Parts: sequence; structure tokens; C-alpha cells
Amino acid sequence: MYVCNCNGIREREVHQAAMDGADRACEVFQRQGCKAQCGRCVQEMQTFLNNVRNNVALAAE
Ligand code: FES
Repeated sequence: MYVCNCNGIREREVHQAAMDGADRACEVFQRQGCKAQCGRCVQEMQTFLNNVRNNVALAAE
């Protein structure tokens, strides 16, 4: 499933970015070699990143 339709960024790519330490949407765009275009995905991407990182933190407790 795509998180960013403009750049073709999928959930698994956002998930991997979070697992590699990304905590901001702009870092996901950088990793993918692109930039936000319309910006509609940024909030959803940030929420996705936060959820993954929170889950990792909980799992580590
Ligand atoms: S949907 Fe991601 S920049 Fe447009």
C-alpha cells in the first residue's frame, strides 16, 4: 500500500526507514531520493513513523 502516491513510497519503505532510525517524514523522502510534492501524505507518514518507533520502544522494554 502506498503512503505517498506522488513519489510511490510504500508502507514497507516507511517502516524500514523507521527501523533504521528515521523519525521525521523528511528523512523518508531523503532516503527515497525525493521530496514532498503535494504534501498530503506528510501527516500520515509522520503518524506511521511515530507508531513504528513507539512499537519498537515498547518491545524493547
Ligand atoms: S502524496 Fe506524498 S507528496 Fe503527494
